[in-house]
Amino acid sequence: MSMPRTVEHTAADGQVSVEFSVNGTPVSLRIPPRMTLADVLRDQLGLTGTHIGCEQGVCGMCTILVDGEASRACLLFACQVDGSELTTVEGLGKPDDLHPLQESFGRHHGLQCGFCTPGFLMTSYDLLDHEPDVQREDLAAELSGVLCRCTGYRNIIDAVDDVACNYREGLPEPKNLGHRTLIGRSPVAMTGARDESTAAAAAVRIDGVRPDEIQLPTGEPTMSVDVTSTLESSIEDVGRVFSDVRLLVRCLPGAELTDELGDEWYRGRARVALGPIRLSFNGLAHLLVHESDRMHVLAQGNDASGGQAQAEIQFLAVSDGTGTRLQADARVFLVGRIAGFGRSLAGDVARRMFEDFATAVDQAARGQEPSADAKPPSAFRILIATLLDRMRRLGGHRRATARRQLENRLSEKR
Ligand code: FES
Ligand code: FES
Repeated sequence: MSMPRTVEHTAADGQVSVEFSVNGTPVSLRIPPRMTLADVLRDQLGLTGTHIGCEQGVCGMCTILVDGEASRACLLFACQVDGSELTTVEGLGKPDDLHPLQESFGRHHGLQCGFCTPGFLMTSYDLLDHEPDVQREDLAAELSGVLCRCTGYRNIIDAVDDVACNYREGLPEPKNLGHRTLIGRSPVAMTGARDESTAAAAAVRIDGVRPDEIQLPTGEPTMSVDVTSTLESSIEDVGRVFSDVRLLVRCLPGAELTDELGDEWYRGRARVALGPIRLSFNGLAHLLVHESDRMHVLAQGNDASGGQAQAEIQFLAVSDGTGTRLQADARVFLVGRIAGFGRSLAGDVARRMFEDFATAVDQAARGQEPSADAKPPSAFRILIATLLDRMRRLGGHRRATARRQLENRLSEKR
């Protein structure tokens, strides 16, 4: 282990330089100080084998080795491991040269969905590395720090016991360590692990000069949303709202336009509160297409906690008799605490926000002040509305009773 450097002090919304090696590759990053190691590994370095479950140290899914010791990557800020050597499950073996633990898990059917498997593999590695004489009867307790929701634990214990019995003299080292190119899913200022020009091109500058373009991450978005709303206003009236960006932003729940940068580039803020998670994104939006009946928007925002949201949104307004059908199609990429929010619930919340947006556009098209900017999307309002929607969909007498009770309780709280 090399000596950790003194990590510089910075404001909570600033960035710090961090250096460490991961699976034998030296990495140098500039990241927000509150960004967790799990998020950096997955989103900035593309090492998605480290899974995230609970994000509070309970499930063990995110277990990696930090200087040879099993550690929860969700409980560490990346800046805390400056100067360390990290090993993730990607370093354990190669597809054509698996580590004995990986082979054994396969042979003993020690996995079903595989979500817990990286955590079990890294925890087992740490256990057998430190306690090669561990006995079968102790394995259940020794591995109890990792939770599996679908495999019988017996198979996992069989797999680990098999390797323990075969390697009492010493467990083979991880087999896939070495210098390689790491490419993350989201833009970051990074050197060393990949080509600097790529990193520089990918880094979107929020507070400084406007970038040439907003680059969305490759791969599957965190969520996709497709919402169609029916507005009472005519397509001509909706078109007038679409043409006025300042008015349009006032229709977006929690959004605020702070700067017009020209050439359809805008700087702004968006506040979102999801349960205990309260986020304030500062970001940029670029309108690639801006016509009275359609828009194509790329947006990116950073939160002080290290969270990042990027989105590609397309709006299409179509005349529907005397009214208008407004379709919103969005691909959203989330990094950080907000990404830990359940995907399906986050999708429901986003859907609800688009519906609120459509309602506000309808109001603005009728000449009223849109109500969206008066009330940012509060956790309470959106989340509860979402839960009520879900309960409505489930139906049934008991659920209807529970729903009434919940609605009564909510109206008392309001
Ligand atoms: S995600 Fe880290 S312990 Fe659950
Ligand atoms: S194999 Fe599915 S959670 Fe363990």
